[in-house]
Amino acid sequence: MLDSNQRVIDYLRISVTDRCNLRCVYCMPEDGVPALHHDDILRYEDIVRLCRIFASLGVSKIKLTGGEPLARKGLSGLVKQLKAIDSIHSVTLTTNGVLLKEQLPDLLAAGLSGVNISLDTLDAQRFAALTRRDELHRVLEGLDAALSAECLNVKLNCVPTAENRPDWVPLAALAKDAPLSVRFIELMPVGLGASLQRQDEAQVRAELEAAFGPLSASAGPSGNGPCRYFRPEGFTGSIGFISALSHTFCHRCNRVRLTAGGFLKTCLQYETGVALRPLLDAGSDDEVIKTAILDAVRDKPAHHRFAEGGVAEQPMNEIGG
Ligand code: GTP
Ligand code: 5AD
Ligand code: SF4
Repeated sequence: MLDSNQRVIDYLRISVTDRCNLRCVYCMPEDGVPALHHDDILRYEDIVRLCRIFASLGVSKIKLTGGEPLARKGLSGLVKQLKAIDSIHSVTLTTNGVLLKEQLPDLLAAGLSGVNISLDTLDAQRFAALTRRDELHRVLEGLDAALSAECLNVKLNCVPTAENRPDWVPLAALAKDAPLSVRFIELMPVGLGASLQRQDEAQVRAELEAAFGPLSASAGPSGNGPCRYFRPEGFTGSIGFISALSHTFCHRCNRVRLTAGGFLKTCLQYETGVALRPLLDAGSDDEVIKTAILDAVRDKPAHHRFAEGGVAEQPMNEIGG
């Protein structure tokens, strides 16, 4: 699919649930948010049908997100059905890792191509403060299990804040001896993220370069996303930056998002897009849905306005990052 700015859209991010078993301070309030009713979440069969339609329009990469995607029962069954679609080359998952160890065998058997694990700190107390849950040990077990799996692309996502500054170097050091990409994601003013102080790429880079030397050797593209990768001297893995504020990447955006409730969102910041759920409920045929998707994609906004004070009101757990 092409949008009106001649960008090729071949990547679909799907939030399979808005629920989560953590309460990260930049994502969810302490008491949680009113979760969508079970009936308001897209059924797996609807997701599979939509993915077949997206595939026929040129989407070849699918990312499953949440909330916490592993909190939804039967996710590996969905992975298997999506992998079975001709022309879907990769199905990956972005998870907080808490339930990963126990579900990984089924996910691997289903053909999962890669997993991104969100982890902002290696310190149990800071983990409990940042996520309001005492689950660090399970995330680390999930990470170990993922690194032990053959043929699985594994990445860590860290959102740098003043609170986890002491963790930036130890987290990056995990990529020294493991085939792992450790990525630092600039906090975006999405949902609760708008009320917190961002630490930008330059600040993280300065700390990492003091520890590991220059981050100038590009590790080349890896994955489907906006991340820029670097390999310090002596590293097996790589360090990446996803810097939506200081290094905008909208001009090469390749993605659209499907929310848990079935809204096709064409940009992370805005409410633009189309509600596909009513079309599914009305029994619309594939051609009608295709036309709705193509019309929405054509009107994809050219860029976000985060740097100019723009915010996204919709909470991150509904959008899926
Ligand atoms: P892969 O590297 O292919 O696995 O994809 P990815 O980096 O896009 O996946 P992930 O789900 O791990 O996302 C990492 C971070 O990048 C999240 O914080 C997302 O919100 C952010 N991100 C992903 N896509 C976009 C985008 O189009 N715009 C912006 N501003 N941020 C994005
Ligand atoms: N800005 C940047 N990244 C965020 N994430 C959640 N909220 C934000 C935000 N406001 C990250 C999570 C996860 C990924 C999908 O998005 O830490 O790694
Ligand atoms: Fe859950 Fe991810 Fe939000 Fe943290 S950032 S509360 S892990 S959905």
